[in-house]
Amino acid sequence: MMSRITRRTALGLAAAVPLVAIGKPALADPLVIKFSHVVTPDAPKGKAALLFKQLAEKYTDGKVSVEVYPNSSLYKDKEELEALQLGSVHLLAPSISKFGPLGVKEFDVFDLPFLMTDDTHARQMMASPMMAQFNKKLEDKGVKPLAYWDNGAHVYTANVPLIMPDDFRGLKMRIQGSKVLDAVARQLGALPQIIAFGELYQALQTGVADGEDNVPSNISTQKLYDVQKNLTVSHHGRLTYSLITNTKFWDGLSADVRPGLDRAVAESTQFFDDTAAKDNVTAMDVIKGTGKMQIHVLTDTEKQAWIAKLMPVHKDMESRFGKDFIAQVYKASGFVPPQS
Ligand code: LMR
Repeated sequence: MMSRITRRTALGLAAAVPLVAIGKPALADPLVIKFSHVVTPDAPKGKAALLFKQLAEKYTDGKVSVEVYPNSSLYKDKEELEALQLGSVHLLAPSISKFGPLGVKEFDVFDLPFLMTDDTHARQMMASPMMAQFNKKLEDKGVKPLAYWDNGAHVYTANVPLIMPDDFRGLKMRIQGSKVLDAVARQLGALPQIIAFGELYQALQTGVADGEDNVPSNISTQKLYDVQKNLTVSHHGRLTYSLITNTKFWDGLSADVRPGLDRAVAESTQFFDDTAAKDNVTAMDVIKGTGKMQIHVLTDTEKQAWIAKLMPVHKDMESRFGKDFIAQVYKASGFVPPQS
């Protein structure tokens, strides 16, 4: 027998039918793709996400509607990965230094200090056949990498000048999450703290962290110059994103939208590649223009001291990744260890 509530619901639904029929037919509703990220809309990733939205909607003739959520407004670093796996969000572009919580440790290898210090080596690595091995690890977790977006080399910031490795001693350094970044901080005598990007400004302001490393465009768009006095151009590591989706979702897309989305991915990737390096140069000018940060570019001698101090991390990480695996990464990225 139908309960009272159920009968009322059924009547309500029946009454709603004509309204639906004269409104927009359900079939014509666009497919909503949610794209969440943690940076500002005017950072390179923020701009590429907005371009993706524009192109995806255009190339699918409005069959897809992309909602972009910047600034960790939907999810923070760790939550967004969980949400993607659950299918609550469809696109992310996290730093590959944050993939540990997915149960994929291999990407941490890219944080080995001074491994890929220039764009050429980073792009060589990301374009190498070895990336298939990394992609497979993500796919095993239901995550599909659609592209890699390289956002350039890291610099360090703090409230003290970071000139020589000893200057890190005792500092609480914010790290993104990778185990290699943890080892780097410890090797420098610092105390690593994993802090979500959305909480970084406040952590630096309140002294939860004393320093961090990032790309200039993030330092400038997050206004970290208001809470950090010193910046060292060290180029000791890189910030690479992977544009990722939920495999089931992407593979289930119908043939009338998938080619348009693939094209939007390819063109947004090209845009990112053309934009990030330029934006990071402009960001350094913005930072200098504020007059709020003391900027130091490592001299060759200082850099050699940093390399000497940090190369043992490569050795220590052999037990985590395997010596052969690290050797393959060296080969794929064109890295030559200084001692050889
Ligand atoms: C960070 O957490 O420092 C960066 O990965 C943020 C980002 O996505 O650029």
